[in-house]
Amino acid sequence: MKSYSKTSDIKVGVVGYGGAFNMGKKHLNELKAQGMVPVAVAEMDPTRLEAATTDFPGIAKFASIDEMLAGSDVDLIVLITPHNTHAELALKALKAGRHVVCEKPLAITTAECDAMIAAADASGVMLSTYHNRHWDGIPLTAIKLLSEDKLGEIYKIHCRMGTRVKPGDWWRTSRTISGGQLYDWGVHLLEYSLQLIKSEIVEVSGFAFDGFWADQTRWGDDANEDEATAIVRFASGARVELTITNLDSDPAAGMMRVVGTKGSVTFLDPHESYRLVQKDGPSKTTIEGKQEETQQELYYQNVAEYLTGKADLIITPEWSRRPIHILDLAGQSAKAGKALPAVYQ
Ligand SMILES: NC(=O)c1ccc[n+]([C@@H]2O[C@H](COP(=O)([O-])OP(=O)(O)OC[C@H]3O[C@@H](n4cnc5c(N)ncnc54)[C@H](O)[C@@H]3O)[C@@H](O)[C@H]2O)c1
Repeated sequence: MKSYSKTSDIKVGVVGYGGAFNMGKKHLNELKAQGMVPVAVAEMDPTRLEAATTDFPGIAKFASIDEMLAGSDVDLIVLITPHNTHAELALKALKAGRHVVCEKPLAITTAECDAMIAAADASGVMLSTYHNRHWDGIPLTAIKLLSEDKLGEIYKIHCRMGTRVKPGDWWRTSRTISGGQLYDWGVHLLEYSLQLIKSEIVEVSGFAFDGFWADQTRWGDDANEDEATAIVRFASGARVELTITNLDSDPAAGMMRVVGTKGSVTFLDPHESYRLVQKDGPSKTTIEGKQEETQQELYYQNVAEYLTGKADLIITPEWSRRPIHILDLAGQSAKAGKALPAVYQ
């Protein structure tokens, strides 16, 4: 693997400097905080390219990744673009011998993930996914409760988000561009869950309700499912159920509920509180607590340590392929009307 003696030798660039959440600025600042050096931005929207220059005076500007690859010796390229562009852009960067951090989701299909992993291996460079939420309060707290034996053995996890609301007027509402209803927050919730259930994925059942909002969006038939669900069966017997909805007027409270043989914990949000309930005979104990402190900065700390030979990579491409395989199977299963087996290479 191409590595460096110190982090200040690592020149970094981003592709995509969008305005929705100002993610380009966030990434470049986080990379800088770890000692890496922002040198280039590629963005197809000239207004957003200008915004990057205002934030990082003197940074080299390019209208496309092709121009960036031809005109810059950037070592690490971060992709912060809509989901259906991730595989194509990553393959270009990886084949050009550059390390790649790709925003979540790594890609839309399992086949795309496999092509990206093969390209990284062939070039001897890093491929990772920006799973910053790996270090959110929810998984950190659930892991702590597990280690203190407050939950026992986890046998089910329920994840859900959304309520009845017309989908936003942005690319995230297009199924072709986003991958579908489950690919945005769903991938975070699955990545939380996969940290807790360490067992092979056996099969995935997908469910979708379509067509309620489609005509009221600019995407028509290509609009996301109104509500989509993935149910994952693990070899251990555990299951994860994930639902993202734009249609349910009265959804159950909480974004994640982890249920074990000794207790159940419910998280209402990614960072704040949790409610642990344990029941033994007639006695029921309820503990309302504050979640562990979110530590998202550990993502780029680990990337910097990996590229300078000081640590193993935590978010490997094989790890971030797992939630994509679930989502890919869920989409196919919803169409087929039956559960589909997971495929391991
Ligand atoms: N990890 C997180 O917490 C988090 C938070 C927000 C967004 N995201 C992810 O970041 C990615 C981008 O989302 P966003 O909200 O910033 O979107 P956005 O629409 O604000 O920005 C995307 C930008 O990419 C540009 N772009 C599109 N195709 C391009 C190409 N081929 N070459 C160069 N530029 C191109 C667009 O012009 C746009 O400015 C998505 O994968 C999303 O899921 C992650």
